[in-house]
Amino acid sequence: VAACCLSQAGELPSVEALEKVAKAAHAKFKDDQGGKNADYIPALAEVPSELFGVVIVTKNGDVIKVGDVDTSFSIQSCSKVFTMSLVMQESGEQVIYDKVNVEPTGEAFNSIQAIEEGDGRADNPFVNAGAIATVSLIKAKTAEERWDKIIKIYEKFAGSKLEVLADIYKSEAETNFRNRGIAAVLYNSNNLFAEPLMVTDVYTKQCSVGVNAEQLAVMGGTLANNGVNPVTKEKVIDAKYVPKVLAVMMMNGFYDGSGRWAWNAGVPAKTGVGGGVVAVVPNKLAIVGFAPPLDEQGNSVRAQKAIEYIVDTLGLSVF
Ligand code: DON
Repeated sequence: VAACCLSQAGELPSVEALEKVAKAAHAKFKDDQGGKNADYIPALAEVPSELFGVVIVTKNGDVIKVGDVDTSFSIQSCSKVFTMSLVMQESGEQVIYDKVNVEPTGEAFNSIQAIEEGDGRADNPFVNAGAIATVSLIKAKTAEERWDKIIKIYEKFAGSKLEVLADIYKSEAETNFRNRGIAAVLYNSNNLFAEPLMVTDVYTKQCSVGVNAEQLAVMGGTLANNGVNPVTKEKVIDAKYVPKVLAVMMMNGFYDGSGRWAWNAGVPAKTGVGGGVVAVVPNKLAIVGFAPPLDEQGNSVRAQKAIEYIVDTLGLSVF
């Protein structure tokens, strides 16, 4: 089957083919100097910029790793995918659609203007406003209970124990005034569903969860495998929610860079300012790239290039 038609034919590339393309992607972009570490969270500026890892996890549980795949980095906005999943699993998909909405903003991930321009809802679960609103929708009586639900489901997605990176959490908690403002704006118009400062703090903590590229790829692999962790074989979310998660990833995963990503890569994905990008090829595999330097929209330069190269080489675009 020609490379262009692999995805349409429903075939999973062989492990050998995946190893070859992952190694080639790593070698090709290893020395790329593009982008700059995030520095609006001071601790992120300190992470070594040269780190670069590429991991592929298939729905069969094969794990292909190249480069810096054992270094823990903060999950940041990649977390938003998994908290959205938690809320749907707990309360159904409609609550996300009705109370957060699923529309792209065409604006930066931390835009306040985007909330004000619309009907007051947070627009979608992946901009900061929507992610904070999503955290507020978790059913919990206390901050501890809310946090506990988040970390437990992340660990199920990853198939391993995860911990908050204390220095990142502290650094972001000391400087997250803009997110506190976003939460206040939402709460004021009845579009945040729990106490704003508490919700912002839980959200900040979820963004500070440490993952290595392999753990994040297993998290994505669980979505590629319709909600069942391909390594542990544990069911994490119902298969019926996976297309909703992937739809929101496709439309909003790169914020105001989502159109360009759809054009270049053609697979649902989510980025984080820690340098991670997790892409999902439905029913087949997940690809993670990790490299701290980011482009203007806050998306990892080398991770994007590596994933685009792998998708293109293997003909994995969903289009
Ligand atoms: O709230 C923030 O600004 C960060 N914790 C997460 C932002 C982020 O990762 C944007 N994505 N690329």
